[in-house]
Amino acid sequence: MRQSSQNYKFNYSFSLVSKTQFFFAILAFLALGGVAPSIQAADPASPTAPASALANTPATMPAPAVAVKPAMPDALAGEALYISGDAKRGVVACVGCHGANGNSAAGTWPKLSAQGSAYIVKQLKNYKDGTRANPIMMGMVAALTDQDMANIAAYLRKQQATGGVAQSKETIELGKTIYQAGIAAKGVPACAGCHSPNGVGVPAQYPRLSGQWAEYTSAQLGYFRDGTRKNGASMTTIASKLSDLEIKAVSDYMAGLR
Ligand code: HEC
Ligand code: HEC
Repeated sequence: MRQSSQNYKFNYSFSLVSKTQFFFAILAFLALGGVAPSIQAADPASPTAPASALANTPATMPAPAVAVKPAMPDALAGEALYISGDAKRGVVACVGCHGANGNSAAGTWPKLSAQGSAYIVKQLKNYKDGTRANPIMMGMVAALTDQDMANIAAYLRKQQATGGVAQSKETIELGKTIYQAGIAAKGVPACAGCHSPNGVGVPAQYPRLSGQWAEYTSAQLGYFRDGTRKNGASMTTIASKLSDLEIKAVSDYMAGLR
C-alpha cells in the first residue's frame, strides 16, 4: 500500500513537469550525491545507511534503477546537426562529406545510411579515444557530445541506403568466394558469417557493408591490417591474412552486394 501511494505521487508529479525537466532533476539529484548506493541504504530505518544517503533521499523519490545515460536519442536533432552542424559549438556539418541522407558521392567518404546506430556511436567514440586514427574524423568528433552521437546515429539508421555496383569482372568470383565462404587454406573465415550473406550486418554487433564504396572498404581493410585502425580485434586478425588482390576483390564484390 505504501509502495503504491509512492508510485502515485511519482506519476502525478511526472505529468506536471516536462520529460526534459525531469531528466535534469534526476541529474541534479545525482550530482548532489543523492543516489542511494543500495536498496538497503535507501531505507531510512536501516542502521547501515550512510548519513548522506539519508539526508538527500526524499521519501517519495524512487532510486534510479540504472546509471545516468544520455536521454533518448533524438533523430530530428541528429538530422539538424548532420545537415547544418552547429557553428557556435564548432560542430561541422557532416552532409558536406557524407552526402544527403548519408549517401556520399564518392569513395573517399563512407556511406553512413542505414548503418546500425550502435556501430556509428562506437566509431565516433573510437575516433575520440584514438583507437581509430584518422586526422579528419578525429577533428570532427572533438565537439560532439555523447548525446549528439546518439542523435546523429538515430537519424542515420533510418536513412535509405543507395546500392552500389561491382566494377571488376576479373575479380568478382574471387571476391564472392572470400565473402561467402572465406579462404580455408589461410584460415580466413567467411565474411558472411558475421556481416550476413547480403551484407546488411547484424545491428549492434556487425556493421552493414553492402553497397559501400569499394575504395573506402579496401582502405579500411588496409588500416586494420597495418594497425592504423585498432578498434576491431577480429578484423585485424582477418585483414592480416588477406593479400592486396584479395582485399581489392572482396571490396569490389561487397560494393555490389544487396
Ligand atoms: C571533411 C569531410 C568529412 C566531414 C565533414 C565528416 N566526415 Fe565522417 N568521415 C570522413 C572520412 C574521410 C572518413 C573515413 C575515415 C577513416 O578512414 O577512418 C569518415 C568516417 C566516418 C565514420 C565511420 C564510418 C564507418 O563506416 O565506419 C563515421 C561514423 C563518420 N565519419 C561520421 C561523421 C559525422 C557524424 C560527421 C559530422 C559531425 C562527419 N563524419 C563529418 C570525412 C568527413
Ligand atoms: C568474427 C566476425 C567477423 C568476421 C568473420 C568478419 N568481420 Fe568484418 N567486422 C567485424 C566487426 C565486429 C567489425 C566492427 C569493428 C569495429 O567496431 O570497428 C567489422 C568491421 C568491418 C569493416 C569496417 C566497416 C566500416 O564501415 O568501416 C569492414 C570493411 C569489414 N569488417 C570487412 C570484413 C570482410 C571483408 C570480412 C571477410 C574477409 C569480414 N569483415 C569478416 C566482425 C567480423
